[in-house]
Amino acid sequence: MSRGSQNIFPRWANYAPAILLAFLIVAGGFATFVIGYWFSPKNLDVGYSPKQPIRYSHKLHVGQLGIDCRYCHTGVDKSANAGLPTSETCMKCHKTIKTDSPEIQKIAKSVETGKPIEWVKVHSLPDYSYFDHSRHINSGVSCYSCHGRVDQMERVHQVQPLSMGWCLDCHRAPQKYVRPKSEVTNMMYSVPDQMIVGKKLVKQYHIETKEDCSVCHR
Ligand code: HEC
Ligand code: HEC
Ligand code: HEC
Ligand code: HEC
Ligand code: HEC
Repeated sequence: MSRGSQNIFPRWANYAPAILLAFLIVAGGFATFVIGYWFSPKNLDVGYSPKQPIRYSHKLHVGQLGIDCRYCHTGVDKSANAGLPTSETCMKCHKTIKTDSPEIQKIAKSVETGKPIEWVKVHSLPDYSYFDHSRHINSGVSCYSCHGRVDQMERVHQVQPLSMGWCLDCHRAPQKYVRPKSEVTNMMYSVPDQMIVGKKLVKQYHIETKEDCSVCHR
């Protein structure tokens, strides 16, 4: 091994290709990750299902008892927020049903003390994006399209990514999802010819494709 003067490059240069390669692998991996993350509709909190202060079950109340969503989420067709029920709403039934249950006693106590139940939020969008429930409900977009089969959930979990790509998928082609307004809270609704029905309803409800940034970023 001669270290003659013919060595133009410093010794570390022997490793340069390896270093460059490692860098490219890391950078390439990172770029792939970023691009995949950015463009994937599946990057956000799908599956998120926080524990709630009371073991309230949609499966029981909606799936078995058949209570309509709007009985509890009274804002959903009138305002931006769907809203959550007050303890008084629960007590309309539970004043007499299952009064010996410790879970129900928590609700009774909340009414007594006036301290609301602190339900943990499942879905949330970043502040810089704007969303309005009533605009969707009154255009025949079902809870199902965004929240899934809530009537089968013991505990609510997030089903859709709520990412921008996901919002746009429907805003570009609402006919894939729009249904008769009378069916928006019906978790069992389905038609074999959605594209035909959807197209008709989009016309009937005067729905336009909405892709301008200002629709959701105000
Ligand atoms: C008897 C009352 C009641 C009915 C009926 C009801 N809900 Fe709820 N809902 C609640 C309560 C209480 C919570 C908060 C606790 C929880 O997340 O489970 C909630 C939470 C939710 C959430 C999660 C909110 C968040 O924090 O992001 C969604 C989504 C939801 N409900 C959808 C529906 C849909 C869709 C229907 C009809 C198919 C429905 N609910 C019917 C009482 C009700
Ligand atoms: C329309 C009537 C009705 C309303 C409104 C209602 N419930 Fe119920 N709930 C029932 C019935 C019926 C049962 C089943 C009772 C049984 O198992 O015999 C039940 C069961 C429950 C149970 C299980 C109790 C146990 O220990 O088995 C919980 C917890 C509960 N409800 C919470 C709530 C909450 C919270 C609300 C308000 C967001 C609410 N319910 C609103 C009718 C209602
Ligand atoms: C087009 C999609 C979409 C539809 C349709 C939709 N939701 Fe939501 N929902 C959302 C998004 C997005 C959030 C989170 C909002 C936020 O963080 O500002 C949310 C939040 C909620 C919440 C939490 C409280 C609130 O208002 O933020 C409840 C409860 C809820 N939805 C119930 C319903 C019910 C019931 C229906 C049907 C009658 C429904 N949603 C239809 C997308 C939808
Ligand atoms: C499954 C279909 C669907 C999904 C998913 C959906 N939207 Fe929409 N959105 C609609 C339809 C249909 C309208 C009504 C368009 C019309 O009236 O011309 C609408 C209207 C709106 C409006 C009111 C537009 C206006 O001009 O006032 C806003 C804001 C909005 N959507 C935001 C969102 C955001 C944010 C998301 C994602 C978190 C989302 N939407 C997801 C179908 C959808
Ligand atoms: C239908 C509703 C809708 C429209 C239209 C829309 N956005 Fe968004 N955008 C969202 C939502 C919802 C989010 C937040 C999603 C998330 O948490 O990644 C978002 C996030 C973003 C972000 C942040 C991205 C990130 O990952 O942090 C940028 C930047 C953005 N939007 C730019 C735009 C531009 C530019 C346009 C117009 C070409 C546009 N948006 C149109 C709903 C929309």
